[in-house]
Amino acid sequence: MTKYTFPQNFMWGAAASGIQTEGSTNKANDSIWDLWHQKSPERFYRGISSETVTDTYHRYQEDVQNMKKVGFNSFRTSIQWSRLIKDYETGEVCQDAVAFYNNYLDEMIANGIEPMMNLYHFDMPAELQEKFGGFESKKVVDMFADYAETAFKLFGHKVKYWITFNEPIVPVEGGYLYDFHYPCKKDGKLAVQVAFNIILAHAKAVHRFNALELENSKIGIVLNLTPSYTRNDSEEDKKAAWYADLLFNRSFLDPMVKNEIPQELCDVLEEQGVTPETTSKEVELITTAKVEFLGVNYYVPRRVKAREASYDLDYFTPEVYFENYVNPEGRFNPYRDNNEILPTAVYDIAKNVQENYGNIPWYLAEIGIAMDVESEGEPGEDGLIDDSFRTGLMKEHLVQLHRAIQEGSNCFGVHQWTFIDNWSWLNSFKRRYGFYRLDLETGDRIPKKHGLWFKELATTGSFED
Ligand code: BG6
Repeated sequence: MTKYTFPQNFMWGAAASGIQTEGSTNKANDSIWDLWHQKSPERFYRGISSETVTDTYHRYQEDVQNMKKVGFNSFRTSIQWSRLIKDYETGEVCQDAVAFYNNYLDEMIANGIEPMMNLYHFDMPAELQEKFGGFESKKVVDMFADYAETAFKLFGHKVKYWITFNEPIVPVEGGYLYDFHYPCKKDGKLAVQVAFNIILAHAKAVHRFNALELENSKIGIVLNLTPSYTRNDSEEDKKAAWYADLLFNRSFLDPMVKNEIPQELCDVLEEQGVTPETTSKEVELITTAKVEFLGVNYYVPRRVKAREASYDLDYFTPEVYFENYVNPEGRFNPYRDNNEILPTAVYDIAKNVQENYGNIPWYLAEIGIAMDVESEGEPGEDGLIDDSFRTGLMKEHLVQLHRAIQEGSNCFGVHQWTFIDNWSWLNSFKRRYGFYRLDLETGDRIPKKHGLWFKELATTGSFED
């Protein structure tokens, strides 16, 4: 047995988001997820919308106690733009939302849970998407900065860790390339413009944050990163991986963490005829918006090979430069659409941040190990659901993280996706990730065994394997 000990004051907890947990009670406005569900309920697994979620709006006190039971010292969720802001033009806030977020934050703080608040988790207000095209429009970029400033002013004295966006590339991929988020467009040039505008929105929010000089608060960004692993060592495959890394990782990581826009990226976008409209002032804002920490979400590795088949889409996607590849020798999670399991990717990510991004303080902001209800089974006589599969995989990933920390990686915490099984976009409740099962009929939270193990880990800062 080896004992793995993590640094003192390490953050242990989970991540979730407002829209995936709160429920729709008293919401000032709809988001695109409400709108899309009204238009196309059949796109959602079993037709379930974000209205039927964990109902945190009513149950936050009970849930903070549930956090304590599994040893959390921190928790990330998000403020919903469409809950907080009543009138997007005037910036008028919804007082009910202000009271809710204040109560929720106070409850966490009083119980020793450090809140980390994110401002955007894929949840564009429906009205702003329909009127202006969401982040297609620079007007909406400014509206986001206004909303962010409102949130900083209202809650800045309670929140020490602010995050502008969770996985900012995902709304670009889902909404503008691959059709899994509203507005379901397939338009490579528009996708690049939206990506640029989101980076600009982030930068403007960071500048607004810094201007407020909030004591004891930091601002950061959460990105989903995975190295691109190749099929073999051929120059062609290595080049394919270089493109995938440039377009999926460095496209956001470099501007947001290093404050640099890679020249190679500009060249590739120009070659594809998809250069976005920018001004030198905007570029200056991006290249001066300093974040103090990075969150990294990790689920699956990306595997690529050089393109063999011809590219037959009539619009730009990053796949013009590579093909996705399934590792024939990989290990796969049967409970998550056979996604590959590769714990060493956590080490590789940590080393990349350490060596190429100034060893910025970072944390594993989401590590998600999905199972389905059938494979988790029913609670045993002890009342617990047996998800030891999850604990086994978590250990394997943490061993790799520990190795990187021993080598100097500046990692300050781990958050599991997620706290209570929650609604997940088109997948609705198909994949379960939580420390607690959500009974969809009764709303009951049913504990899983993994939570006991996690509590021990969080309390002692170590585990043995
Ligand atoms: C993360 C997102 O990438 O993946 C979450 O930040 C999401 O919002 C989670 O719920 C799980 O996604 P999925 O597709 O496995 O249900």
